[in-house]
Amino acid sequence: MTFNNILTEDYGGISRITIDRPDKLNALNMDTISELHHALNQADLAKAIKVIIITGSGEKAFVAGADISEFADYSVSQGERLAAQGQAQLFDFIAHLSTPVIAAVNGFALGGGLELAMAAHFRIASDNAKMGLPEVSLGVIPGYGGTQRLPQLVGKGRAMELIMTASMIDAKKALLYGLVNHVTTQDELLPLAEEIAEKIMRNSSVAIAAAITAMNAGYEDGENGFEAEITQFGRCFGTADFQEGTQAFLSKRKPDFPGQ
Ligand code: COA
Repeated sequence: MTFNNILTEDYGGISRITIDRPDKLNALNMDTISELHHALNQADLAKAIKVIIITGSGEKAFVAGADISEFADYSVSQGERLAAQGQAQLFDFIAHLSTPVIAAVNGFALGGGLELAMAAHFRIASDNAKMGLPEVSLGVIPGYGGTQRLPQLVGKGRAMELIMTASMIDAKKALLYGLVNHVTTQDELLPLAEEIAEKIMRNSSVAIAAAITAMNAGYEDGENGFEAEITQFGRCFGTADFQEGTQAFLSKRKPDFPGQ
């Protein structure tokens, strides 16, 4: 697939995916959502890629939301389909990827932009970042998982206030709320994401995938997170990575995980 709205770069075990519509503040139109799906799928399937970093082009925005111009005249059924397709193709898809996904929030992350960052496994931000779910100011609600993931991340009361007031919070407040894990300067944002990626890459990718599955399970309908943990824990014992990790520890050497 040719990408017209995103840039991808693979280096040192990392796949960096940059949403690249800076003149529209990287707003997510349908083509961009589809390209992101393909790029993420490609990166997840590539053996050499251990961490995915998502960020936005330019100095102003991560993603300023879903592209309002695309859905302004939608009907009820079209609106419902837009949310369902987007969630399946991108937002749930990211949350369930077995390759860790870090959102490097480099400016406005609004509406679908914050929902994209929240679907990632965790987030870091630059000090100019502004985050919010302003959909009710447009007469609609977050449709890409925002009403579920924001309360999970910041607590129900804070999410209620943020969504009802359509307010933006700055990076400092996002850090205080636990919405982002770290805040740094704009220049240091990608180096920090890469430094964290390096730390992740030292560990077993199969164990990390199992941990993602177990952590997600607690938030899935009809799933018991503790049971999922037991299953995933047991599975690890059948992996070459477990053999390597335990043998390396017992031999007092660093592990060299085969990723299997
Ligand atoms: N959808 C479509 N286009 C968008 C967009 C979105 N979500 N967000 C920004 N853009 C476009 C603007 O229409 C403008 O395009 P134009 O130059 O062709 O007119 C361009 O990006 C620059 O945005 P602009 O509003 O001029 O920048 P600003 O610095 O004055 O304001 C924001 C920045 C983020 C406050 C403002 O763009 C905004 O409120 N965006 C919408 C946020 C939103 O409601 N998101 C949720 C959508 S569900």
